[in-house]
Order: sequence, then C-alpha cells, then structure tokens
Amino acid sequence: MFSPEGPSLRDLVVQALSSVEHGYDLLAPRFDHTPFRTPDSILDATADALRPLGPFGEGLDVCCGTGAGLRVLEAVCRGRSTGVDSSAGMLAEAGRAYPGAEWVRADARALPFAGAFDLAVSFGALGHFLPAERPALFAGVYRALRPGGVLALPVGAPPPISSPWYWVLAGFDAVMRVRNALWRPPFVMYYRTSPLTALRTELAAAGFTVTTEPLEPLGWREDGSPRCRLVLARRP
Ligand SMILES: C[S@@+](CC[C@H](N)C(=O)[O-])C[C@H]1O[C@@H](n2cnc3c(N)ncnc32)[C@H](O)[C@@H]1O
Repeated sequence: MFSPEGPSLRDLVVQALSSVEHGYDLLAPRFDHTPFRTPDSILDATADALRPLGPFGEGLDVCCGTGAGLRVLEAVCRGRSTGVDSSAGMLAEAGRAYPGAEWVRADARALPFAGAFDLAVSFGALGHFLPAERPALFAGVYRALRPGGVLALPVGAPPPISSPWYWVLAGFDAVMRVRNALWRPPFVMYYRTSPLTALRTELAAAGFTVTTEPLEPLGWREDGSPRCRLVLARRP
C-alpha cells in the first residue's frame, strides 16, 4: 500500500485489529512511508506561523510518533526538544531520526511533566482520543507548559458533504465504530470527532486562552475559508 517501502494491506489490517499501542509498534518501521505521517507542508506551515511568536525555549511533541513534529520544534525552539508517545516502536524510530532529542514513553492522557515546556505541538493524533478523554489530555498539556507557554495544533477544515472526502472519512469512522463494537482491544481512531468548536471549548475549559490563525500556505477552500487553521492555546 502507498509505496514499495510502505505497509502491505495485510499489515494495515493486523494493525487495525490490535490495540493502538501495539498497532503502532507493528507499523513503526514503515510509518514514514504512509500518509499517516504528517506531511512536511503542514509542519513547515506550522513552523512559519509559530516563528513570529518565538523563539521558544523547551519544546514538547505530544504523540510524536516517528518524530515528525521535531522538524517544527527544531525550527522555533532554542532549548531541548522532547517527544512523548505510548508506542515504544514509534519512539525507537524517532530516536534514530533525532538522536539529540529526549524520548519519553507515556500515555498522553496522563502526561508526566509539570511546568517544563514553553511550546507543545501535536500532529495527527487527536482522532485517537475520545471526546471524553480530551479533558485529561488538555489538562496534562496545560500542566506540562510553563506560564505563557503555547500549545499549537493544526486542525483541517472538514470537507463539505459534496466532497468525496466527506464520505471517505465518514465511512472510515463508521467502519471503526463497528470494529470497536465487535472486537477487543479497541482501536480508537476517528476522523470526525474533533471539530474546531469543541476543541476551542475544551481548551478554554482546561484554562487556555485560545486563538486560531489560518495556515495560509495550505490554501483556501472555495467558500474562502482556510483549509487548515492553527489552534494556539496559551497558558496564561
Ligand atoms: C497518526 S500517528 C502521528 C504521529 C506523528 N505525530 C506524525 O504526525 O507523524 C499517532 C501517534 O499517536 C500515538 N498515540 C495514540 N494514542 C496515544 C496515547 N494515548 N498516548 C500517547 N501516544 C498516543 C501513537 O502511538 C502514534 O505514534
């Protein structure tokens, strides 16, 4: 699938029938050859948007996977970079790509940091958290940041109902709901459970001051709205 170095269809099915942690352990060696790894265009647009707010000190990549977000942290942070993820396999790949960074294995719903970072980023991972789990995730990031610290999250605009992507994502979520009703352990990954309005409300409830800005290099939709916004949640 995706490319000769990428996972086979069988690999993806085995991953989808595993737990999130074990599934990513299995996928890790081939993850960078899948579309699930955040593309450099999104990383670079995020770094461009953060640069005027920086430079930052210490940076944290939440659900870092193989380390995609380090490209952003290294561009805008002067201090140490840390990645946190629950998959040992993904962290091993990240450690190979960025040996100078720190890699921590932990569940993002119980982050083990307090007042340690000036910037936190997270890419491509919100769908792994049920809405009921996000307050613990955001409270942990809030705790991990120093006062004045910022959490940056790129959030894509949902495709309109007339777009084939609307139906692809809705179909994926429906298949995952059936899978999770019938099979244990669950594999939580839903594309349509993190709308911008809910995120803003939940981040504000966690204590953040929330703003958004368009990621202009990623372009605009036909209705004039941005394809992707950067959510900036600042710990006062
Ligand atoms: C789609 S990958 C994204 C990886 C990377 N951020 C990127 O953009 O390429 C999602 C990552 O979230 C991690 N993850 C999922 N649930 C997690 C949790 N509860 N705690 C920590 N990491 C988690 C997975 O192990 C995986 O590495």
